[in-house]
Amino acid sequence: MTQDRSVVIRPARNFAGALQLPGDKSISHRYAMLGGIAHGTSRLDNFSSGADCASTLQCLRTLGVEWEREQNRVVIHGCGASLTAPAEALDCGNSGSTMRMLSGILAGQPFISKLVGDESLSRRPMARVIAPLESMGARITAGEGGRPPLSISGGKLKAIHYDMPIASAQVKSAMLFAGLFAEGETRVTEPLRTRDHTELALRAFGAEIHKDGLTSAIRGGQSLRAIEATIPGDLSSAAFFLCAAALFPGSQLVVSSLLMNPTRALLLDVLAAAGLGVSVTQLEEHHGELVGSLQVEGRKLKGLSLAGGDAAALIDEIPALAAIAPYTSDGTEIRDARELRVKESDRIAAVAANLRKMGATVEEFDDGLRIPGGQQLHGS
Ligand code: S3P
Repeated sequence: MTQDRSVVIRPARNFAGALQLPGDKSISHRYAMLGGIAHGTSRLDNFSSGADCASTLQCLRTLGVEWEREQNRVVIHGCGASLTAPAEALDCGNSGSTMRMLSGILAGQPFISKLVGDESLSRRPMARVIAPLESMGARITAGEGGRPPLSISGGKLKAIHYDMPIASAQVKSAMLFAGLFAEGETRVTEPLRTRDHTELALRAFGAEIHKDGLTSAIRGGQSLRAIEATIPGDLSSAAFFLCAAALFPGSQLVVSSLLMNPTRALLLDVLAAAGLGVSVTQLEEHHGELVGSLQVEGRKLKGLSLAGGDAAALIDEIPALAAIAPYTSDGTEIRDARELRVKESDRIAAVAANLRKMGATVEEFDDGLRIPGGQQLHGS
């Protein structure tokens, strides 16, 4: 039987409902990795249901970490700082986060590991983690142009101060993870503020980490202890529902237990500035992460414009914002988002091509898109 992978979507006239989302992908990756190298058993509820975090768990198993999963609850039996040399390649699937962040941990392990990925991951740039990890003492070989597969020969690391040339939370995380295994204090300075889940997760697992502006510092040789946590709902997944709600004046949507980390929540400010009614209740802090209940109400949608640090902070939500841009009154311009071209797919080209198929006028730049407002789309 051939599998029918098509889905038919008919136009909606309104949008209303309440939902709760699976756990945030970024946090699930980090808690799983840190749980694997912590002492004790970590219990993680509402773990991401996505394939990427399953790839992280699978890699951990190949590295000797035992875990059980029952639906969205994952129980991880930490190995302490010593993982086991893998008997086979670590398959990161489609997950750049798995490959880049795990590289930081593997750089500090006294064995050789090979990391492979699917066709899309095999095209993604890894030099951004290879260069700084090599400066700390790891030996890493990669495919052509610094792309996967990677072979990491880890061992004794020395701390460095790394001035990151690109804003990437994955690179920052790889460096801080490697810093846990290095002699001395590893410092990482980022050009722009990126998501800080790694810093918060390291603290939650008992590590001391210092932040001073855009610099984070971690001392090597600290040991981690297991945690129990419920992972907040994924804000990047919520983006699709929030953008849909923003399209319909009068729409009502409630999203409970949603991640509200300020380094991730810019979407709410941007949608509110464009006209969406946004209110947050029941704000709480869990392991340093803010979690809250979000209520939104659709109103007339103005335009929006994004550039600089804001584009970097919203990198995963830009495709959803671009998809609703034709329906704004004043249009949308997005610049400084060149990184979107080296995600799982070239998301600038993909959004432009699909909007054009639906009849929209779209101008494509090397680093973004300009989409006029007041356009009507048709099915395609
Ligand atoms: C992520 C960081 C971002 C983001 C990705 C998840 C993370 O990537 O696009 O989906 O969890 O740290 P970069 O570090 O490449 O910017």
